[in-house]
Amino acid sequence: MQKKKAIRTLTSKWTKTLALLKSNKLCSHVPETRLFNKSSVLSLLKKYQMVYVKPVNGSFGQGVIRVDQQHTTTGRKYRYQHGTTSRSFDNYDAMYSSLSKSKLKRSYLVQKGIHLIKYNNRVFDIRIMVQKNRERKWEASGYIGRVAHPKKIVTNFHNSGKPLPLETLLERFVQGEQKQKYISDLKRLGYQIAVHLNKHYPGFREVGVDIGVDKELKPWILEVNTAPDPFIFNQLKDKRMFNQVIHYARVNGRFRKK
Ligand SMILES: Nc1ncnc2c1ncn2[C@@H]1O[C@H](COP(=O)(O)OP(=O)(O)O)[C@@H](O)[C@H]1O
Ligand SMILES: [Mg+2]
Repeated sequence: MQKKKAIRTLTSKWTKTLALLKSNKLCSHVPETRLFNKSSVLSLLKKYQMVYVKPVNGSFGQGVIRVDQQHTTTGRKYRYQHGTTSRSFDNYDAMYSSLSKSKLKRSYLVQKGIHLIKYNNRVFDIRIMVQKNRERKWEASGYIGRVAHPKKIVTNFHNSGKPLPLETLLERFVQGEQKQKYISDLKRLGYQIAVHLNKHYPGFREVGVDIGVDKELKPWILEVNTAPDPFIFNQLKDKRMFNQVIHYARVNGRFRKK
């Protein structure tokens, strides 16, 4: 058997998606994903009407594009949105050609778009932080909601997103004990993701999972970060989670001088 290299981080969203799909438990939470090309975008659009196109090696929501198709009385229309600009087209070829020009010269993937639930009419998603503790055991150490800027299609803090307590964002959908159970289930999902990926990549010590929740409250794994930003938790008034996350980041040698 080939020896696995103990790499600490992994940027390729494609490699990470393939690794997640190897797990029977996790694969049902992974939105269908393909490498970007003219036929993969068209076939996922036909299947899901809305897709996300993103750089394989991206971060901070940069370069992320939302594409959708609508049925109108005069036929089909295609539209994509990048940042705060959106463009519409009468046919797929025109849309694809413009989309290809607007993206950077890097590899991209296309993914089933999740219709995220909203808070004050803005979409939000969830970051679950999972870190190794002193006993070298994985622990879901933090969770936070991230609300998108009203005109944007990404929730990243570095892309005008607003981090808020998850309990506040979920209140409209689940309450009381049920809400606590829902959050525990999300933490368990984060834990399972970390344990599973760690089997394939033994060098990981911290994982930040981006979870999107659809209208049926089903959690979808949008992305797994292996060098997650602990400082987003400093945006919460209650500093307990931030202190915990920073403590484990230190345990894992995060702030050591090189
Ligand atoms: N499949 C998707 N459906 C809905 N929203 C998505 C999807 N993929 C990404 N997003 C939105 O775009 C943001 C950035 O995408 P992500 O895959 O996390 O890349 P990045 O590395 O840039 O953070 C996500 O936090 C989420 O708000
Ligand atoms: Mg992300």
